[in-house]
Amino acid sequence: MDGQLSFFEAKKSLSPKIVNVASVPQRSPFRYPGGKTWLIPLVRKWLKQSDASKVLIEPFAGGGIVSLTAAFEKLADQIVMVELDHEVAAVWEIIINGDHIWLADKIYAFDLTPENANSILKKENKTLKELAFSTILKNRIFHGGIIAKGSGLIKNGENGKGIKSRWYPRTLRDRIMAIAQVKSKIKFVKGDAFDELAKIKNDKNTYSFIDPPYTVAGRRLYTHFEIDHDALFALTAQLKGKFMLTYDDTEEIRELAKKYSLNFRTTPMKTTHHIQKNEIIISDNFSWWN
Ligand SMILES: C[S@@+](CC[C@H](N)C(=O)[O-])C[C@H]1O[C@@H](n2cnc3c(N)ncnc32)[C@H](O)[C@@H]1O
Repeated sequence: MDGQLSFFEAKKSLSPKIVNVASVPQRSPFRYPGGKTWLIPLVRKWLKQSDASKVLIEPFAGGGIVSLTAAFEKLADQIVMVELDHEVAAVWEIIINGDHIWLADKIYAFDLTPENANSILKKENKTLKELAFSTILKNRIFHGGIIAKGSGLIKNGENGKGIKSRWYPRTLRDRIMAIAQVKSKIKFVKGDAFDELAKIKNDKNTYSFIDPPYTVAGRRLYTHFEIDHDALFALTAQLKGKFMLTYDDTEEIRELAKKYSLNFRTTPMKTTHHIQKNEIIISDNFSWWN
């Protein structure tokens, strides 16, 4: 048995474990519904499959945890984040392309009361900076971080702390200031994932991390939830670079993978409501998987 795993140990090491999210550094200012923090250990392996210089594109950026991790951990030389939602995009515009110090200070100095929050949220014709701040505020004080229409203020929150239960001004300020340290590597594009992916589809050294909105829940979670999944598979299948496309494990998605002759693996995850389910990971190759 020297140096060999017993059958049970070998079997255990082959079955992917559920990642403890607390073990992954939180770098995003967002709490993101459907966020991929739990997938970070696999993303690291995927990005480390080659030492050659690479560009990472995250065309459905959301909270941007994959881009931020790659920037901090030097897993890619350049990073492109793309997001269509104008509220989410405003935050990235200010942090990556604008006056991040204004946003960090504004969050830190804000006196969070229901009255003050309402007056920020209700203001019409917001400037880009104001929109960025109100998006962070909403994301922190609305149920589940959901900023889409139909969502509402946290009522009791953690420990009965109400709207303050997810408002960590110092942490948010520190995260924004930390992101600013690596922002020269990051380009943020407010735009459509399909357009940006089409632009890089022949680039061999571009790695695409594609996490589109999906499932019935997408309707409640995001303002932009309707995308053409068949078209996304078709475009992904044309990419000359490496890719990782993630979805809930459903028959529809398995069928699409089959239709476009794309290989996949599944990995277990726990939802925010602690329900265990599987996620499908589609990739051009799986040499990086184990
Ligand atoms: C599943 S979420 C991404 C979550 C992200 N991976 C994270 O960990 O935070 C999908 C995101 O895609 C955005 N989105 C939807 N349609 C889009 C499109 N056509 N182009 C760019 N972004 C889009 C949504 O607004 C949402 O933020």
